[in-house]
Amino acid sequence: MDSEIKRTLRDGGAVRLLSLEVNGQRQQRAVMPDITLLDFLREELGLTGSKRGCDLGECGCCAVLVDGRPMLACLLPAADLEHSAITTIEGIAEGTTLHPLQQAMIDEGAVQCGYCTPAMVINGVHLFAGELRPDAEAIRTCISATSCRCTGYNRIVQAFERTAERLAEDRP
Ligand code: FES
Ligand code: FES
Repeated sequence: MDSEIKRTLRDGGAVRLLSLEVNGQRQQRAVMPDITLLDFLREELGLTGSKRGCDLGECGCCAVLVDGRPMLACLLPAADLEHSAITTIEGIAEGTTLHPLQQAMIDEGAVQCGYCTPAMVINGVHLFAGELRPDAEAIRTCISATSCRCTGYNRIVQAFERTAERLAEDRP
């Protein structure tokens, strides 16, 4: 028996083996049955790019992609996701090549303390996957899903606009 399971049973806690696909790799851990996806990612896998803000589904900082759609990891029971593909900010770049939005966030100086940046990018990746040239309203709606405590929204908007321009230029 896995020592982690033994320890949990000894301490009187219930435990279950949970297997999730995260960033293209299947990961199995012995966890408490009610663990959230955010805790699974951060505490079990050490993927701390998904941020814990409110833990109440309000700030948006914990967004990840579940089967390609942005969802709030603090609200999701991890046990419900064994048949889903989860992508965190750590899985967005391809090797050393950043997603165009990641690069634009750097180029535009849109990363301030950086706490909201992973969720902004996660939502943006979804936006640009569906729409190469989103209009200003679509960009603002996308950005509004995440609270930026540093409040530098203008630069974030500029990063999204620059990404839209770059993707439109690259289109065959
Ligand atoms: S930490 Fe999930 S919405 Fe705030
Ligand atoms: S950059 Fe600091 S919270 Fe957005």
